[in-house]
Amino acid sequence: MTTSRISGFYNMTLEERRAQIADASPLTPPELAPWTSGGLSPEAADHMIENVIGLYSLPLGIALNFMVNGRDVLAPMAIEEPSVVAGASFMAKLARGGGGFTATTSEPLMIGQMQVINVVNLHEAKLKIYEHKADLLAEADSIDPILKKFGGGARDLEVRVIADSPIGGFLVVHLIYDVRDAMGANAVNTACERLAPKIEAITGGKVHLRILSNLADRRIARARCTIPVKSLAFDSFSGEAVRDGIIAAYAFAAVDPYRAATHNKGIMNGVDAVVIATGNDWRAIEAGAHAYAVKNGQYTSLSTWGKDPDGNLVGTLEMPMAVGIVGGATKVHPAAQAAVKLMGVKTANELAEIIVSVGLAQNMAALRALATEGIQRGHMSLHARQVAIAAGATGEMVEKVASQMVAEKVVRIDRAEEILKGIK
Ligand code: MEV
Repeated sequence: MTTSRISGFYNMTLEERRAQIADASPLTPPELAPWTSGGLSPEAADHMIENVIGLYSLPLGIALNFMVNGRDVLAPMAIEEPSVVAGASFMAKLARGGGGFTATTSEPLMIGQMQVINVVNLHEAKLKIYEHKADLLAEADSIDPILKKFGGGARDLEVRVIADSPIGGFLVVHLIYDVRDAMGANAVNTACERLAPKIEAITGGKVHLRILSNLADRRIARARCTIPVKSLAFDSFSGEAVRDGIIAAYAFAAVDPYRAATHNKGIMNGVDAVVIATGNDWRAIEAGAHAYAVKNGQYTSLSTWGKDPDGNLVGTLEMPMAVGIVGGATKVHPAAQAAVKLMGVKTANELAEIIVSVGLAQNMAALRALATEGIQRGHMSLHARQVAIAAGATGEMVEKVASQMVAEKVVRIDRAEEILKGIK
């Protein structure tokens, strides 16, 4: 059984933290090794992409305190930005007081698109495709026997008429495919390519593009949390003031795309970090999230914040979540495998439920800071450490130089160099 509550984690050495994670999770110390080394050898990387000359690393932190659907979860986060892991962990702690995160997912349905051009009568061709729907689905269903064995396969076919465009009218055929625990791009692209000649024969047109849509709006992950209003109080801020500040901050994002973009970026700080840690395609998740955020015609917040009848803060997040735990980098990258094992997820949906919970926690961390003391205070102390390192500080010097700069409210490389000289 994993426990996600580890006190004093922040102040431990890297070694101590690893030992704690091995104690608190199903991972054995050797299974943590991929995170010590970065996980990927240049030789393995050479098989993943082209023209490889080396590797590129990111910090891997563990977000604590998460409870998702009643289960403790340690969330691995690969990210370069300070404050993100601490913010998620702190908000997860507050959410625990209200029962943690409750998350669900839709069926793992992906959409494959086929663009049919050079069609003489679009409406007639559309109906002809529907007449052959059963055959087409059976064909698509037979393509991936492994997926079928695990309960996946072709589910539906939908045809849209695009009456006008820069090239005139065309048809768009959507193949809805249950991809189970895969991200699904390969299965769906293969199925679309396989169906194309049949669609051409049925319509007399030409199937031009055959590709997955990253607007994965049939594969949605949802999370909600309730934060007891009292637990929001800190310094001179009452719980009610923090709650109302967060709700007002959400209102800004709900109506203004300029703010919504930044608000959603905060959500993606959490989402992407876990997506990257698990070897998933974060560009696909980003594309899906932002396209979904504009689904009603205006770009808006992916989350909502309000209160319950007892005055507690309630947050919700709904977004597409096309992640897999089989295939791709998730399977070949040892650090990604360790991440999946650490979270104890057995399905892609369980992974999606954790990711969307981390996204919601991250959003709340940003809104809480913005609605109260501002974002810079929290950022500054971590930023100061980076500046101290850039100025040449090592070991204990990092903290000394950083805290002096924060106390002076001057966080600059020239000041860090001066302080470092003074200490030496
Ligand atoms: C910074 O990476 C993210 C925030 O800008 C998010 C937000 O403004 O809600 C703090």
